[in-house]
Amino acid sequence: MSVTQQQVLQALAGVRSPRGVALTNADVLSPITVSDGKVFLSINVDAGEARAWESVRAQAESAVRALPGVASAMIALTAERKAGAAPPRPARPGQGVPPAAAHRPPHNPAGSPMARQAEIPGIAAVIAVASGKGGVGKSTTALNLALGLRDLGLRVGLLDADIYGPSVPRLTGIREKPELNDERKMIPIERFGLAVMSIGFLVDEETAMIWRGPMVMSAITQMLRDVAWGTLDVLVVDMPPGTGDAQLTLAQNVPLKGAIIISTPQDLSLIDARRGLAMFTKVNVPVLGIVENMSYFQCPHCGTRSDIFGHGGARHEAERLGVPFLGEIPLDMAIRVTSDAGAPVVVSEPHGPHAAIYRDIAAKVRDQLKAAIAAA
Ligand SMILES: Nc1ncnc2c1ncn2[C@@H]1O[C@H](COP(=O)(O)OP(=O)(O)OP(=O)(O)O)[C@@H](O)[C@H]1O
Ligand SMILES: [Mg+2]
Repeated sequence: MSVTQQQVLQALAGVRSPRGVALTNADVLSPITVSDGKVFLSINVDAGEARAWESVRAQAESAVRALPGVASAMIALTAERKAGAAPPRPARPGQGVPPAAAHRPPHNPAGSPMARQAEIPGIAAVIAVASGKGGVGKSTTALNLALGLRDLGLRVGLLDADIYGPSVPRLTGIREKPELNDERKMIPIERFGLAVMSIGFLVDEETAMIWRGPMVMSAITQMLRDVAWGTLDVLVVDMPPGTGDAQLTLAQNVPLKGAIIISTPQDLSLIDARRGLAMFTKVNVPVLGIVENMSYFQCPHCGTRSDIFGHGGARHEAERLGVPFLGEIPLDMAIRVTSDAGAPVVVSEPHGPHAAIYRDIAAKVRDQLKAAIAAA
């Protein structure tokens, strides 16, 4: 028996707003998405009241999860400033990038720009894999890089934060849904020795497409903090492609220790990579380096190598920008085929040349990360 919107509404009617009004009468609910037992909605409140609403959100989520037929429920709290309310921080005309202090909550005693968001207990470092442009192989690289880090003996998690097109379920072949532990936290799916979580486990791709900026952030915050990640050395986050507002908010609000930018060698991709770099620099997240994906083509028959996109562009760009260059991944059928089959190349061909390349990149990432943490 699958749950209906009406049943979800009934459950929500039993939850009270901070002012004691039934949630269904408080004029705060988004449309409710119910698909295949998965329920998603958001509670939209004024930014000034967000704190008071957090426990209401949690109660609402528990109430919906308790309904028979609900496989998973995600209720996001989105706080929007009322029209005419003061901006979050004063505009700084003519000053370009705001100083690190502007991103820092006042109660942050450490004072480091990287300590501006609360760390996630148990996770030593969160790193983002980003690209200025879609389709450059970000998800493929994020997964194989995570596996490369695993091969270095690290305990690794992978969070698919690409709300617009979660591809980690396909790349890993994971079809099950995460279960909840006694504290009602989602238990990440264990695959290839990685702790894996994807927004795609909870909502359909089509649902994910229509999410607005604040909902995206709220959902991702929950995926970071309401998940029983356990103890991890590194959590690799597959970011949504691009450098728009949603990506910037994410870069600002996720406690990142560093970011890796994936680019193809073409000029257009490089321009976008530069934008990605600028975005992380703006929010004081160190860029650990640039990876050139689809760097060159090695003919599987004759072994001849062709530089179809004019290989080497990303290396030059990294040098020009003073950012480490982490490595080149060839355009190779094996990488695509294994990805599409849910058996990434580092797992399916662990002794092959591609696995070696990903491990090499992983070692560089680990070293850059150590340096970034030491410098912070
Ligand atoms: N080095 C490679 N060689 C061959 N195919 C590759 C390589 N890297 C990625 N691909 C293929 O390219 C396609 C896009 O890759 P992927 O989904 O990882 O990109 P993405 O940047 O995450 O895309 P999106 O912006 O849609 O999230 C996939 O079919 C993938 O298998
Ligand atoms: Mg992707």
